[in-house]
Amino acid sequence: MASLKGTAGLRILAYGSALSTYVLIVIGGYVVFSGSGVACGSSGPDSWPLCNGQVIPTLSGPVLVEWTHRLFTLVVGLFVLGMTIVTWARYREERRILQFSTISFLLLLGQILLGMVTVKTDLNPLVSTAHLAVASALLSAVILNAIAVRSISVSSDLVLR
Ligand code: HEM
Repeated sequence: MASLKGTAGLRILAYGSALSTYVLIVIGGYVVFSGSGVACGSSGPDSWPLCNGQVIPTLSGPVLVEWTHRLFTLVVGLFVLGMTIVTWARYREERRILQFSTISFLLLLGQILLGMVTVKTDLNPLVSTAHLAVASALLSAVILNAIAVRSISVSSDLVLR
């Protein structure tokens, strides 16, 4: 069984995944309500993964809002990818964590693709709704994963006492 000390890195990755996903969803809400969804361009070739044809656009107003949403996806991506790699490398026997972290990773990949389609289809309502639906599913998966990680940390703490 994993020791409490041994699960410290896993807990950072699990809690970081949950917190950063929550923050990204709030930023996504701001993208919608501020009308910044096509600030990096819409259906044209310059709108994704570039922003108005630039890697780093001029950051002000709606462009800053949309670009922050995209950039913060990188933070979520690092936590979720790190969580998945560490789980597959060291915690394969923890079935729930293996399942939740792998599902989180797959949802994240789907969400990044949907983000692209959202932009390319000029904020098609069906695609935007799917983007919101996958965001909710991803948040559920990372929270369930964090709860599962906490439960193995607590049980290993009890064994140590
Ligand atoms: C983990 C990754 C992501 C999450 C959790 C996420 C979440 C969200 C959420 C919750 C919204 C608000 C939806 C609504 O209220 O209807 C949103 C909006 C949006 N997101 Fe993301 N997003 C992610 C990645 C991306 C990426 C990589 C792009 C790339 C372009 C993107 C583009 C957009 C756009 C354009 C909107 C505005 C949609 C509209 O105005 O209808 N998202 N996102």
